[in-house]
Amino acid sequence: MKVTKAIFPVAGLGTRFLPVTKASPKEMLPIVDKPLIQFAVEEAVAAGIDHMVFVTGRNKRAIEDHFDKAYELETELSARGRDEMLEQVQDILPKHVTCSYVRQSVALGLGHAVLCAKAVVRDEPFAVILADDLIDAQPGCLAQMVAVFDQRQRSVIAVQDVPREDTGSYGIVEGEPDGDRLLRLTAIVEKPEPEKAPSTLAVVGRYVLAPAVMRHLEQIEAGAGGEIQLTDAIASLLRDETVLGYRFEGRRYDCGAKLGYLEANVMFGLEHPETGAEFRRFLQRLAAQDGR
Ligand code: G1P
Repeated sequence: MKVTKAIFPVAGLGTRFLPVTKASPKEMLPIVDKPLIQFAVEEAVAAGIDHMVFVTGRNKRAIEDHFDKAYELETELSARGRDEMLEQVQDILPKHVTCSYVRQSVALGLGHAVLCAKAVVRDEPFAVILADDLIDAQPGCLAQMVAVFDQRQRSVIAVQDVPREDTGSYGIVEGEPDGDRLLRLTAIVEKPEPEKAPSTLAVVGRYVLAPAVMRHLEQIEAGAGGEIQLTDAIASLLRDETVLGYRFEGRRYDCGAKLGYLEANVMFGLEHPETGAEFRRFLQRLAAQDGR
């Protein structure tokens, strides 16, 4: 089985970023000049995925527009001879990529969002990408995970060590080591208190899932926070088949939180061809002032 589809749950309200998210989606927040959702889609494309499934809600039109043709803008740029910019807006998605939009009209949780895409993914394995977990990696995190899936034909979930006091913000896994970066999961729980967490290995927003997970999503009840949790469906899947945890190579920025978002902007700003050199000098001056 090959992974050709990726689900992007983008219906969330983004309350942690109010007021900017009052009328625009949090997934459109830029890292320097590129929105988070574009990073996520590019990561999927780099992993060989050619069908993007966005699970959207109200106020998310900007995401659809971003991946659609922008006639007026293209005509204008072309008339002004701004070829480089024109290319930039035309090449957001490679030609072979298809996008589908599914509406999640009630916010019943991440698991429910994934289940909304069932009719599109049908009986195939699929990826899930949470755009607010930005992962800087080469090759991309999802490409690393798809390589594992291609070999093992089992669900693969990205994990990373977190401080014990933070377990309440994540799905936490427990497992038996299976080689260098892999572990075979024995348990997964959503947002346990630090004293109840089975480990400090946290799920980050990248999943490659076997199609059977949809059946489990249909059967589970609401869990943590009264929501249908993807984590609970994976815990249920785990009773039937092997699920692997994968310690990815790369650096994750939690762009669902202000601090992580700022860190990502600094790091990508330092790498950006237009801003990098000048921004580095600015930060050096700032650090020198701070030291005085
Ligand atoms: C979701 C998942 C959680 C996972 C996290 C990663 O939580 O439910 O298991 O660890 O994403 O970012 P959220 O951050 O949406 O509350």
